[in-house]
Amino acid sequence: MKNKSLSSLRINDERFRANFETLAAIGATPDGGVHRPALSEAHLEARRWFLEHAKQIGLDARMDGAGNHSAVLLCGRAGGPTLLLGSHLDSVPYGGRFDGALGVVAALEVLQVVKEQGISLNTHLEAIDFTDEEGHFANFVGSLGLAGRLEPEHIQHPRGGRDRFRQALCQAGLSESSLFSAGRDPATLAGYLELHIEQGIRLIESGIQIGVVTNIVGIRSFKIKFIGRADHAGTTPMDKRLDAAQGASAFTLASRELVMNEFPGYVATVGNMEFEPGVFNVVPHTVTVALEFRADDDHKLDEMEAALRQQVSVAAQQFGLESETEHLDNTPPAHMNDQVREAFVNVSKALGLKHTFLPSGAGHDAQCMAEICPTGMIFVPSVGGFSHSAKEFTEWEDCANGANALLQAALMLAR
Ligand code: GLV
Ligand code: MN
Ligand code: MN
Repeated sequence: MKNKSLSSLRINDERFRANFETLAAIGATPDGGVHRPALSEAHLEARRWFLEHAKQIGLDARMDGAGNHSAVLLCGRAGGPTLLLGSHLDSVPYGGRFDGALGVVAALEVLQVVKEQGISLNTHLEAIDFTDEEGHFANFVGSLGLAGRLEPEHIQHPRGGRDRFRQALCQAGLSESSLFSAGRDPATLAGYLELHIEQGIRLIESGIQIGVVTNIVGIRSFKIKFIGRADHAGTTPMDKRLDAAQGASAFTLASRELVMNEFPGYVATVGNMEFEPGVFNVVPHTVTVALEFRADDDHKLDEMEAALRQQVSVAAQQFGLESETEHLDNTPPAHMNDQVREAFVNVSKALGLKHTFLPSGAGHDAQCMAEICPTGMIFVPSVGGFSHSAKEFTEWEDCANGANALLQAALMLAR
């Protein structure tokens, strides 16, 4: 097929939508969202759907040692590299139906269009669904594994505990050691492209259809223990307590002030607190706080970490507590490849879609892939900016625009 006719190719909108709806029914919640935490039964069912669908459309379906699911179309020159397109099928607990799923279904649709047109390209194409993007157990296990960047410490302290992680891996036909076997030789990869919803309000408020991602924030996460003493809740006077809840609360409030005043534009979140023993009538002796913070620059992350650690000490001292800080995860910020960005800009123009450049405050598998191959992402508008909730919504026309931009960028970079 000539270059000119390639540029007129479009995805099959009805089929794309039907596949998206089929997938959204797996793990569906009554409020229109999905509950598919990584390696849960619903997530595994979504992944079975991926493999079956890929086989049905004549793609070569596989799973690697990190559980990444792939559908491969050998449309490139013999021995040529592969261009990956994808995202993730897991969700946060009680999340939305678009986060991740849109990019995976769009990738499958792109491969199906290229296959049915019998197009020969310079590179092969692969649709990929990465394991545990949402960090249910550990952030980006699949994409770190594929990038050869997974280290034993990434999975040493999985959220939810190591036993549960091992059990979940086993049910999925994986193991801790298999996760390390998924690394691919960068020389075999032509790049990675990801379509995703914006999860913010910038596109929708400016009436722009495509956000070309410039860079993706780095994320660090910590478990912080405030340790005091268990006491009777009825007989211990207020000023005689070593109440771990007070330290955890003081830290939480102070972290907000700190970030807003000293790190404007950046974010820190206390996402969980576990109280021990966690009953009404005992002053809690220990509270474990789950903290994560994000910035698009490693120096800023270092500064935020130092300032937040200082706040932990201040809050502990204020209430006579001990504190322990455990570093869980560190995902560095990533820059998207210039050539891939340019391809997305050019295809947006050719498709008559307005575009703008945006950084991503959400984490994505693209930040791991960017370490080993030319990587780029586009966003489509999120109505109301809602995400990580069932309220997540993107107009179908915007989903289709994004998928067409993905198709055209893939054709541009793969030929
Ligand atoms: C992933 O969605 C994240 O940004 O936490
Ligand atoms: Mn996502
Ligand atoms: Mn997400």
